[in-house]
Amino acid sequence: MSRLLFAANWKMHHGPAAARQVVHEVLARHRPVAGREQIFFPPSVSLAAVLEEIKGRRDVAAGVQNVYWEAKGAFTGEISAPIAAEAGATWALVGHSERRHKFGETDAETGRKVRAVLAAGLKAMLCVGELIEERRAGRTEEVVLRQLDAGLAGLDAATTAQVVIAYEPVWAIGTGTHATPHDAAAVHRTIRQWLTARAPAGARHTIVYGGSVTPDNAAALLAEEELDGVLVGGASLDAESWIRILSTPQPNR
Ligand code: 13P
Repeated sequence: MSRLLFAANWKMHHGPAAARQVVHEVLARHRPVAGREQIFFPPSVSLAAVLEEIKGRRDVAAGVQNVYWEAKGAFTGEISAPIAAEAGATWALVGHSERRHKFGETDAETGRKVRAVLAAGLKAMLCVGELIEERRAGRTEEVVLRQLDAGLAGLDAATTAQVVIAYEPVWAIGTGTHATPHDAAAVHRTIRQWLTARAPAGARHTIVYGGSVTPDNAAALLAEEELDGVLVGGASLDAESWIRILSTPQPNR
């Protein structure tokens, strides 16, 4: 049976009270399923509430949506990877499209962040993805591989294999237009080939897809063998919709 990762990126939604309530309802109604893991990425001020709710559930983890690469210092408004780890996070997203395109995060900065996350003992989920004009110009592969190259710079082969990659085409995020399962799988294959060439023989890379995943399209996407899971924004905010995604029938691959 393949392992599937279901990650919920809540972006700037759900303060502690709403976060607690959604996670409580999800976990009460969705019992652990072998081979499936859930990760919640709430706003960091809601992390403690989520952690309290997931206590005792080994199939569920929580993380932060972003970190700064320095460990501490005069960086008002930022949080570091060691501080996130101390607060109980076990994962961190790095290089989300909104960090890159709304906050000007560069490829090189994502690399510094990935290294900081791993050094703090957190698991990293590095997001990559092309803009619509890049896809139309036939540059998807070039852009995604450039982002991978910078995001994973300086890591040895064994460490490279541990980073989870989220392929999130920018044009599919929050638009209601998801990549077709075929197109998503094609980019995953490209990413996997690139990773395989840089990691120890036999390493199994985890690559998840994000961008307008909903209860209605999750089954078709996850039917693609290349997809090891999903990273979901809007459709993860509401317990009902998230439970439907978590309950996607085991793909027949
Ligand atoms: P949506 O699922 O809302 O398109 O967001 C995807 C995303 O950015 C997850 O990180």
